[in-house]
Amino acid sequence: MNDSALSRFLARLQSSFADETFVKLTLGHPADPASPLRKLLLRPVTIRGERRCSVVGRFLTRDETKNPTFTEAFALVEARLGPEFLSAHLFTQTEDVQLELGAKNRLRVVSAVRAPAPLGHDRDRVRWVDVQSRYLKELEVTDVRGKVRERMGAKFRQIERFVDLLASAYRESGLFGSGKPLTLCDMGSGKGYLTMAAYDYFQRVEQVQIRATGVEERPDLADLCNRVAQQCGFERLQFVCSPIAEYALPPLDILVALHACNTATDDALFAGIRVGAQILLAAPCCHKEARPQLDRVQAAGPLADLLRHGLFAERQAEMATDALRALLLEREGYRVRVTEFVAAEHTAKNVMLIATKRNEPLSAGAAADLDARIAQLKSFYGIQHQRLERLLVERRELERAPAAAATVSPV
Ligand SMILES: C[S@@+](CC[C@H](N)C(=O)[O-])C[C@H]1O[C@@H](n2cnc3c(N)ncnc32)[C@H](O)[C@@H]1O
Repeated sequence: MNDSALSRFLARLQSSFADETFVKLTLGHPADPASPLRKLLLRPVTIRGERRCSVVGRFLTRDETKNPTFTEAFALVEARLGPEFLSAHLFTQTEDVQLELGAKNRLRVVSAVRAPAPLGHDRDRVRWVDVQSRYLKELEVTDVRGKVRERMGAKFRQIERFVDLLASAYRESGLFGSGKPLTLCDMGSGKGYLTMAAYDYFQRVEQVQIRATGVEERPDLADLCNRVAQQCGFERLQFVCSPIAEYALPPLDILVALHACNTATDDALFAGIRVGAQILLAAPCCHKEARPQLDRVQAAGPLADLLRHGLFAERQAEMATDALRALLLEREGYRVRVTEFVAAEHTAKNVMLIATKRNEPLSAGAAADLDARIAQLKSFYGIQHQRLERLLVERRELERAPAAAATVSPV
């Protein structure tokens, strides 16, 4: 095989590692179409002051991150480009280099002028959530000197983790770099920690104009948050007192729903889908809708042995509901990842669904496949009803109704 395109590509990668002009690299197009590992994403990070290469393995439904040295990262690319991945796209500060391996290996180099890659991890973490921010003081996460209060350590880590996840979803989405103002809604915003952290992140770190709304059914919390937002000069942030299901959500870019109780998560996701949000972040809370349905399932074999224990049945209800939500979001044209939000020792409610809208519409075959998998999962667990599914089905029926009416000939 003529591998000169491959060797020239690897040489360019190596020199961008050496002179620190490396911005990012994506390996894609798996040689085995059935491989669950779809992509490898590489970018520079600093960890405890040391420059490393973050390597994210993007599997069908999850990500795996490692932070090897650049030498190790290069060896990894060298070993896997060709046997495992057939395409690579390298961004450096001076050029874009695209490699396609196949019957004819192709290398395309385009000059570019690009800023150095933002270094993630430690440095960004501190920057992304600034411990000296006024909103953290007003919400009593930090004290007057800007130190995290002892009892608020877990909350602060949760805020950091949330901003990390939000930032990576944003930076991978089509919204990043578009320069257009952003709109975000946080449904079930509670005391507004995460709403304000998101607002602050976009305004201060990304320097994009952001308009954000928190929706909260408790008037005392909505009032408190509006007061703090005003004190902090967050002019385009407001909190509205309303149940999620009754809030008329305008078209927007990012929908957040963290720990909104039970099916309020479904109401929030549905609202986000309906208005075409590009990014949906949901950390589901109690799963009361599915739990009693599992008690009625006529399970046999291992599933019966699992469901006869209340605790396991509860966990199964959570997993089945969130797996169903993930499939329903995929059916609506989103790419979905399920990841841990906060460490399991703090709370069992630690799952985050991250959905980003795909550019290309779902093919009829993919939609039919997802419909079949949704039906299969429901039938396996004996789930008769799930709120997000019902809302989506009702919407589809409503959309079809005028079309059906139009085909009826007038008498
Ligand atoms: C557990 S707190 C989480 C707050 C915040 N999202 C966070 O993760 O830090 C859930 C909040 O959602 C609000 N909430 C729950 N169900 C809601 C609904 N259906 N409509 C509006 N707010 C709701 C509650 O009042 C509460 O303040």
